[in-house]
Amino acid sequence: MPTAVRSHAKINLGLYIGAPRPDGFHALTTVYQTLELHDIVTVTARASSGTSIRLTSNDARVPTDARNTAWKMVELALEALNLPAEVEIHIEKRLPVQGGLGAGSANAVAALVGLETELGIASRQISEPEGQRVSVRDWPARRLEIAARVGSDVPLFLIGGAILGLGRGQEVYPLPDIEPVWCVLATPEIGVSTPQAFRDWDALCAAEGLTAEASVDKLRELSRAYASAFAGEIPKGRQGAGSSGVLSNGENLAGPLESALVRTGISSWIQNDFERVVFPQHPSLAEIKRILLGSGTPEAACHASLSGSGSALFGLYRTRGDAEAACQRLEAAGVRSQLTRTLPRTKYWGEMLLP
Ligand code: C5P
Repeated sequence: MPTAVRSHAKINLGLYIGAPRPDGFHALTTVYQTLELHDIVTVTARASSGTSIRLTSNDARVPTDARNTAWKMVELALEALNLPAEVEIHIEKRLPVQGGLGAGSANAVAALVGLETELGIASRQISEPEGQRVSVRDWPARRLEIAARVGSDVPLFLIGGAILGLGRGQEVYPLPDIEPVWCVLATPEIGVSTPQAFRDWDALCAAEGLTAEASVDKLRELSRAYASAFAGEIPKGRQGAGSSGVLSNGENLAGPLESALVRTGISSWIQNDFERVVFPQHPSLAEIKRILLGSGTPEAACHASLSGSGSALFGLYRTRGDAEAACQRLEAAGVRSQLTRTLPRTKYWGEMLLP
């Protein structure tokens, strides 16, 4: 029986970039937040004498070979488990292919979850005669390590909900969830290269004289502020299953985002450093942010930003009506958009496997 897995998008609620590290990557402080919007990844697997992987997709832009993150993840996992298998992966693309939403990284984790279900990894009694195989006990930590090898924003999808991202973005810490917030994604047809955006950031830092020490201090200060703002958000007596705060469709929010983020004045300095290098090159993206914000209107956003290095942008809204008004403003400007909500951790895991 194939296993079908939801593969959710993420946004960045703020993204601060430090100086380049000796390994060429950049230190980051970010808060990732998963969204309801998702692709579907279907996995069929059975143990075999040798490993073979076949990957298909409904979208011709998705690579169907070892360049695909889902392929890499499955290959590395089978190798670590010393468990050869015949695996078929199908990726049904529903998310926009535009960058910034972590879609490819989420596909990698969804493929892993599908593989684990198909092969019964969690319940498997893996013997370790030569100490070669990873024991089931060690697997949760090992899979995080494998995810980080596949990409900096893959491990976040092994946590879900609101997540503090440090290091090069691969060091992930679950944050107390914020209750679902209406979110509009704008997906302009512009491609932004992440490595190039990082290089542009370096050039900007060199021009502005940002030292490695100053940037480390800034990142520390920001991660403390983020953690404290979110820590204060644990709802009293609702830390259990109820904290997913699942809303019925059409229900409005009483400003939970504000209580989490605005209370500490955090929204004034939640920003995405990539905007400083991406907006000057693509002024239309700055204009889309302005449309998402709708400042001065009754339907104004709580927050709007580029996600990752873009080109996707998002706006967060107090009510469904406010979010729909943003979609209409974008449509009038000829920009594609999708309405969704932020997805808390309990719901992320609770609904990951399709029946
Ligand atoms: O880890 P990932 O494959 O997503 O990174 C893609 C590229 O983005 C890296 O090769 C690097 O150029 C850049 N990057 C970076 N600093 C990070 C994450 C990515 O410079 N923290």
